Amino acid sequence: MTLAPMNLVRVNLGARSYDVRIGPGLLSRAGAEIAPLLRRKRVAIVTDATVAPLHLATLQAALEAEGIAHTALTLPAGEATKSWPHFATCVDWLLDQKVERKDIVVALGGGVIGDLVGFAAAVLRRGVRFVQLPTTLLSQVDSSVGGKTGINSTHGKNLIGAFHQPSLVLADTAILSTLPQRDLLSGYGEVVKYGLLGDAGFYDWLETHAPRLRHDPSALLHAVTRSVQMKAEIVERDETEEGDRALLNLGHTFCHALEKATGYSDRLLHGEGVAIGCALAFELSQRLGLCSQEAPSRVRAHLKAMGMKCDLSDIPGDLPGAEALLGLMAQDKKVVDGQLRFILARGIGEAFVAADVPSEPVLHLLRDHL
Ligand code: GLY
Repeated sequence: MTLAPMNLVRVNLGARSYDVRIGPGLLSRAGAEIAPLLRRKRVAIVTDATVAPLHLATLQAALEAEGIAHTALTLPAGEATKSWPHFATCVDWLLDQKVERKDIVVALGGGVIGDLVGFAAAVLRRGVRFVQLPTTLLSQVDSSVGGKTGINSTHGKNLIGAFHQPSLVLADTAILSTLPQRDLLSGYGEVVKYGLLGDAGFYDWLETHAPRLRHDPSALLHAVTRSVQMKAEIVERDETEEGDRALLNLGHTFCHALEKATGYSDRLLHGEGVAIGCALAFELSQRLGLCSQEAPSRVRAHLKAMGMKCDLSDIPGDLPGAEALLGLMAQDKKVVDGQLRFILARGIGEAFVAADVPSEPVLHLLRDHL
């Protein structure tokens, strides 16, 4: 049997190091990939109602092929699942399944399932190991790697959580073909972010190849792999976000305010907000004299060529005024000592953390785009 091309990224974090395997067909090999981690041949799987009909049977067959017993919990799909009630259901179910300290919990799904199950694994019996099987582009390139886990509170998104690294991530790029186009493009918002924040060569490559990602498995494999490599490098430097990890928040200060303003509804998906936020962050950088006019123009041109939202006016429905949006930014959990923190750029691939951005140019930028 010829195996499809498979890439490996190692996340080096001492005793918490792990592999991210990336490539087509990994789901149907998951049993063989997970088996070496097991102390006893059984796992508990948590997934959601969208993913289960598409992928759960493949995972179960892969586990059975290796003689691994399994049991599964299917939670409702959607952001509302990242909440205390579903978290409690998940933890109680894992205890009902008699998951022990040395067992493995498998998260099969997108960012919601990965974050919730990772957090459940972090606290269950003071910490059990878990494996991420991310099923969306966004979770493959971002949320499944790096150990941020958690749920939302009525006070805001991701406010309750823990750093808990997975023991293995299996990113099956072939299953991304089941994603609706809008979800794929939303995930692409996080891919383009990596080029913009730290790798101009990757950004050049994306400008040429990204329009064909859906139909070009080797381009998709490269895009996911390079994104994961960049995330791994940043997480290795700064696991708990004392400094450099904040670079991963390029576009996110704007994005979080826009997500709040649109009620976390399908008016704006997270990755769409990231893409708009990146375009605004580059324009703010240009207005502050940090980068040339060419950079924000290139960002917007590429997002447009991808068929993505890149402006505030691309968000359907009314938005609050510039002052109200700035107020929402000030509530972001990334705010330190009341100072707005932005990720700005000196050019494509040259982002940096700016802790002292004055509010006036931000207000002007928002006013000009509303
Ligand atoms: N998603 C941003 C981070 O993992 O730090």
